[in-house]
Amino acid sequence: MENVTSRILISDKDLSIERYPQNNGMDAFSWFRISNSPYYTFPEGLEVESGEVIYSLIRMMKAKRILETGTRVGISTRYMAYALLDNCLGGEITTIERCGISYNYSREKITSAGLDDFIDCINAGSLDEDIIFLDNEFDILFLDTEPEYRYAELMKFFRCLRVGGLIVIHDLSDLYCEKFCAPYDSCLPMAIKQLLSDGILSSMSFKTCSGLTIMQKNSQPLWERKHERI
Ligand SMILES: C[S@@+](CC[C@H](N)C(=O)[O-])C[C@H]1O[C@@H](n2cnc3c(N)ncnc32)[C@H](O)[C@@H]1O
Repeated sequence: MENVTSRILISDKDLSIERYPQNNGMDAFSWFRISNSPYYTFPEGLEVESGEVIYSLIRMMKAKRILETGTRVGISTRYMAYALLDNCLGGEITTIERCGISYNYSREKITSAGLDDFIDCINAGSLDEDIIFLDNEFDILFLDTEPEYRYAELMKFFRCLRVGGLIVIHDLSDLYCEKFCAPYDSCLPMAIKQLLSDGILSSMSFKTCSGLTIMQKNSQPLWERKHERI
């Protein structure tokens, strides 16, 4: 079977691979960038390495329900959708994008890749009041909006993640750094520190060129159990 990155490239001629432009003291990385896009004046991209890790996590866990925040041009969405396709178990990604132009653009890309059956695009803000899901609905939360929203999203959608499920946060290479990602001011909130110190969440972070943190929900916190319906 063709590698997932090659399949995404073949189905979208706007995408090409270039070396990550800044070395950041690490080995050079390859990443996707959008070239010649009619919609953007700056490139959008995801590290190939991170995309392939997310693809493999879904293959390995046989995940079926995924929530993504921040669709943009749908590169990560397509990595995840190919994993569902290759698992042959069905499943669906719900992806939320607040920018109308990005929403329309990514929908076109998803359709032309033949991945519509696996993706439900929502044009809204992830933190909008009417964006709600069932408890334990998701196997994976992939958080990729603006860095300053991602911890709020983690807290908002935590109860929608099943025990054993994963939270994957892009652009975060060090949970305990002072700020999420300069110049954003988004320190690790006390509530998440508590989940980590109680062992309800475990985490590992990778210093990729953008950063990637993967957390696992090991058990339900008391405040979720208190609201269980009998
Ligand atoms: C880093 S880009 C996502 C890249 C995308 N995952 C990809 O692979 O193409 C961030 C996106 O999040 C969107 N966004 C920012 N805040 C949002 C929010 N609160 N709810 C939904 N989308 C949001 C932005 O409009 C932008 O398109």
